Amino acid sequence: MTFIEFKDVKFVHQTGVTALDDVNLTIEKGELVGIVGENGAGKTTLVRHINGLLKPVNGSVKVDGQDTRNVSTASLARKVGIAFQNPDHQLFSDSVEKEVSFALRNFGFDQSLIDQRVTSSLEFFGLSSYRNSSPLTLSGGEKKRLTLASILAWDPEVVILDEPTVGQDAVQKEKLAGIARELHSTGKTMIIVSHDVEFLWLLQPRIVVMRQGKIVGDGPSIETMLDGEMLAGARVTQPQLIRLYESLSQRPAKPLLDVQEASSWLEREAV
Ligand SMILES: Nc1ncnc2c1ncn2[C@@H]1O[C@H](COP(=O)(O)OP(=O)(O)OP(=O)(O)O)[C@@H](O)[C@H]1O
Ligand SMILES: [Mg+2]
Repeated sequence: MTFIEFKDVKFVHQTGVTALDDVNLTIEKGELVGIVGENGAGKTTLVRHINGLLKPVNGSVKVDGQDTRNVSTASLARKVGIAFQNPDHQLFSDSVEKEVSFALRNFGFDQSLIDQRVTSSLEFFGLSSYRNSSPLTLSGGEKKRLTLASILAWDPEVVILDEPTVGQDAVQKEKLAGIARELHSTGKTMIIVSHDVEFLWLLQPRIVVMRQGKIVGDGPSIETMLDGEMLAGARVTQPQLIRLYESLSQRPAKPLLDVQEASSWLEREAV
């Protein structure tokens, strides 16, 4: 079922910069999509159209069958949660606890459920000890995690993470990958904007490649990540395991998905 639909979308920022140029994109309910592309390609501008923060100049964006021009931002916000690329643009409460509970309160959740969700969300993201601190006092990586905790606490139908791995250490990245897998397995629609191709490769999402406001590649991870020429044009590096695969004279049937798979193949095949 089509859940998100961009039709001939053009968007021009106030400065006159065309950030989206004739974008056509359809995302099904339950899909896991990674968006990659050079700085300034239009990735953030694109995802901001999904929760109605931005409206197209030409063309249309539909979410769950409704044109974002005809739906209130409040009702779209309930459906689509975006964790911003820059947490300083998102965080506004005077305590970590209030930051996570704000949307829950706004959406009319019961107080007991709010308490429960805030506690579990902060615990999960390792932020419990900062419950009463100001978000401004958190480290960069912690701020980023707080934006994720706030979004996931209210369980939106579409979860959009804009550069979620920036500033995250290895343990947190692993956790993030786990969350993405789990949400995807429960049928959540997820969009992850990221320059971190190694992180995306672990998740094997559908990959959409952007360049200068246009979509220049779209398909399964294996397909898109093998298209070196298209990726180079969009200034995206291929994941290491794709580069390894391409440099082998005798290759496995398809690129290897993780290091364990790669090492057992190499051990088996090494003569
Ligand atoms: N608020 C804004 N006002 C004016 N121009 C903007 C604004 N936000 C983005 N742009 C411009 O629109 C284009 C697309 O920006 P966008 O932030 O969507 O790119 P991006 O692909 O997310 O890049 P990055 O990888 O650096 O996050 C860029 O040329 C950028 O300079
Ligand atoms: Mg961006």
